[in-house]
Amino acid sequence: MTAYNDLIFEISKPGRIGVNLPDSDVKEVLLTDKFPEHLLRDTPADLPEVSELQLMRHYTALSNKNHGIDNGFYPLGSCTMKYNPKINEDVARLAGFSHIHPYQPEKTVQGALQLLYDLQCDLAEISGMDAVTLQPSAGAQGEWTGLMIAKAFHQQKGETRTKVLVPDSAHGTNPASASVAGFTTVTIPSNQNGLVDIVELKKHVDSDTAALMLTNPNTLGLFENEIVEIAEVVHDIGGLLYYDGANANAILGKTTPGKMGFDIVHFNLHKTFTTPHGGGGPGAGPVGVKKELIPYLPVPLIEKNEDQYTLNYDHPLSIGQVKGYYGNFGILVRAFTYIRTMGPEGLRQVSESAVLHANYLQKKLEPYFDSPYPQFCKHEFVLSGSKQKKLGVRTIDMAKRLLDFGYHPPTIYFPLNVEECLMIEPTETETKETLDAFAEAMTNIATEVEENPMRVLEAPHTTVIGRINETKAARKPVLRYIRPKEVVYVNETTEV
Ligand SMILES: Cc1ncc(COP(=O)(O)O)c(C=O)c1O
Repeated sequence: MTAYNDLIFEISKPGRIGVNLPDSDVKEVLLTDKFPEHLLRDTPADLPEVSELQLMRHYTALSNKNHGIDNGFYPLGSCTMKYNPKINEDVARLAGFSHIHPYQPEKTVQGALQLLYDLQCDLAEISGMDAVTLQPSAGAQGEWTGLMIAKAFHQQKGETRTKVLVPDSAHGTNPASASVAGFTTVTIPSNQNGLVDIVELKKHVDSDTAALMLTNPNTLGLFENEIVEIAEVVHDIGGLLYYDGANANAILGKTTPGKMGFDIVHFNLHKTFTTPHGGGGPGAGPVGVKKELIPYLPVPLIEKNEDQYTLNYDHPLSIGQVKGYYGNFGILVRAFTYIRTMGPEGLRQVSESAVLHANYLQKKLEPYFDSPYPQFCKHEFVLSGSKQKKLGVRTIDMAKRLLDFGYHPPTIYFPLNVEECLMIEPTETETKETLDAFAEAMTNIATEVEENPMRVLEAPHTTVIGRINETKAARKPVLRYIRPKEVVYVNETTEV
């Protein structure tokens, strides 16, 4: 059977129907009586006319074209695309969670509030912080929330600190959040080992410094082993240390940002704690803080008074509410389910396996690609396609070729400080067989670059759409179907 690639408009036949509705027993209403004439269309909508079975096959075929963690390996560095256990879905769908409304009286949602409170406590323990807010709906919003807390903290002490320091390997959201929070970003270059250059850091730290934002392990997959000294340098001038927890998959149960000297932390529940990801869908970026920053947390704070759970808005120094209602509740239920089904030992094993898998894959691929930081990595690692670039094939070409092998490509061209970067994060949930098969695909591509570069340069060969102009696709997306003139048809309801 050939691949199904039609648009639903293209399989449409005038007069074909998917469902027989009973005759309407509602009195007919004229649209012109209800809406001003200029808002009404001149011609009937050109809607596709298909049978129910055609409709079913159409959407099933479309869904099969998506690449997701449930149907293929997804080694997207820094994005931690790990399996979302289905028990999380079952629990989030329980009527007691899914049928409640955020405006219900507190006494009728005690179970939901208890779950939020317990999740706050679990995340505080996992991060080594004293209190947590669950409100922010993404890592980036967590960063902004954390920086607004830092700003409020300094202002309360009568200080206006204007600078946030960010290493050059940081995720782009770090400087963006700092800027949206009203700070100037200062970039700290990494040293030759891919770590924060403490000499450079000392040059830039001063009484204007509000915070240093750090990801540990960083986006090269390397642990900042001088973190205690880094913390001292920042604290000595009264600055705060911000932990971007997007890479927490590598440290669960091993250490905490609190122990490393961090004052503010965000977690990406949609990475580390297996809640769904991407597509602009709901995420969650809870923020944890040390004791002295608790007064600035967003309201409401979920508190426990004896055996009652309450939403407390009475925190006069709070930065205010950062998200409607109490965050993305369904996502929080999923993360809580994951944490409680794994338990402390399970979470520790997550990190051990994630680190083991990354090192296994790194060692398998190093003979074929440049490896700018060959030292022991944490849960992800970077390679460079600079060797292949010399042969006329770039990292983007190899990423496109991987699609032919059925894999989602790794993150490419990030972090920015690695030439022709490929950042690979296998995660703990993949089997050795999957890692071996992926390594084989990657090494096949490296061999092709030497023996048949055109095969790689012209990839992908097996996808529905080949190479697209990515800039044009993003800037000028085609979002509306326009029926080509030659297949124009006229029937009772459709006139084009
Ligand atoms: C290191 C790092 N920090 C922050 C973020 C931002 O998180 P989010 O996408 O949830 O806004 C990401 C996302 O990929 C990341 O990898």
